[in-house]
Amino acid sequence: MELEIIDIDELGRGLAKNDGKVCFINKALPNEIVKSKVVVNNKKYMECKVVEIIKKSNKRINSFCPYSNNCDGCSFDITTYENSLKLKEQAIIESFKNDISFFKIESNPKHVGYRNKISLKVLNEQIGYYEENTHNFISIKSCSLAKESINNIIKDFNLFKFKEGMLTIRSNYNDEILLIIDTLEDLNIAKELFLKHKIVGIIKNNQVIYQDSFFYERRNGLLYKVSYDAFFQINELVSEKIVKDIIKNLTNNDVVLDLYCGVGYFSLPMSLKVKEVVGIEVVKNAVVNATLNKKLNNISNVNFILGKVEDKIDKIPLKFTKVLVDPPRSGLDKKTINFLLEKEIPMILYVSCNPKTLKNNLSKLKSKYKIIDFKGYDMFSYTKHIECLCILSLKEW
Ligand SMILES: C[S@@+](CC[C@H](N)C(=O)[O-])C[C@H]1O[C@@H](n2cnc3c(N)ncnc32)[C@H](O)[C@@H]1O
Repeated sequence: MELEIIDIDELGRGLAKNDGKVCFINKALPNEIVKSKVVVNNKKYMECKVVEIIKKSNKRINSFCPYSNNCDGCSFDITTYENSLKLKEQAIIESFKNDISFFKIESNPKHVGYRNKISLKVLNEQIGYYEENTHNFISIKSCSLAKESINNIIKDFNLFKFKEGMLTIRSNYNDEILLIIDTLEDLNIAKELFLKHKIVGIIKNNQVIYQDSFFYERRNGLLYKVSYDAFFQINELVSEKIVKDIIKNLTNNDVVLDLYCGVGYFSLPMSLKVKEVVGIEVVKNAVVNATLNKKLNNISNVNFILGKVEDKIDKIPLKFTKVLVDPPRSGLDKKTINFLLEKEIPMILYVSCNPKTLKNNLSKLKSKYKIIDFKGYDMFSYTKHIECLCILSLKEW
């Protein structure tokens, strides 16, 4: 099927129409004509894969990645970094055209080798991934987006002597490594692996089988303990920029609610500027880490609550002046949105890794709030993902 790419969607896919039906084509650029095969076909739309480029965009370049043809992890490795930012900006402006007329993405100073965590499939003693929408396993020797310390481990995967399962590799500021393994096998990792890499912990099926279940991270001039199952921002330089922009919007008298706070990544630097911070997070180890992290950094004006935001949010007897939300990709739930609307907290700082759910949540919040700033950060360079900071202020009546 031949398709002409007319635009790009907010997930970085080329957009085309076939007999009036919308087609999303991964790794296709505006103005290109491509021969493509259908991988998903439902009533409303088709998802397609490029088979051949018939008319090539002058913005297309050869990817830096040897797996680009099969791996859908990157959407924009087929164009220059500068053009990838432009396309992401266009996608957001198009998607939020009723709310904003201007949108800028702050670039990532290190646009390859930035990821501190990667999860891969293990099959037949090979490490790799499944091609999207297929059962084709692609074995890899490296991932250009991952930190060098992670790629060094991938290169030595033969030393794991591990046949089948999942492997997550996490690396910290000091290139220490945590390995999180899910498998039914008994492991017999070669000693050489430990001699060649700074492995500080191995967790197999949620049990620690070597040393520790955590490591320490240094960001924002602070020290964070991070457990193997706790979220931590994957891009050091970009996540620090976001912290700086958040802090600029706070004052000394603020009492801040930090929803979905993880190990206190934002709560701790915010607490250095404001009167008080309360964080809510559902992962137990993350809250245990956060509580220790405040002590590690001699901070006393933060408290952390373990539980689901939607269960705990209305049980805190404090009058908040600002709320920071950094939810998972699914965005805010109905109860949390209603709480924000009811309580009329003067400012909401919404950190979002999913423009789709941000847009949906904003459509409800806009009944009482107006957007006063909206900025993007290229946290996940070359991939379709965009991190946004949207600042909302309560409308005056
Ligand atoms: C995008 S991460 C942000 C974490 C933190 N703000 C940071 O920057 O490190 C989202 C966090 O929300 C937590 N989470 C997911 N659903 C939740 C819920 N219903 N209630 C509380 N926390 C939740 C996850 O465990 C994760 O730590």
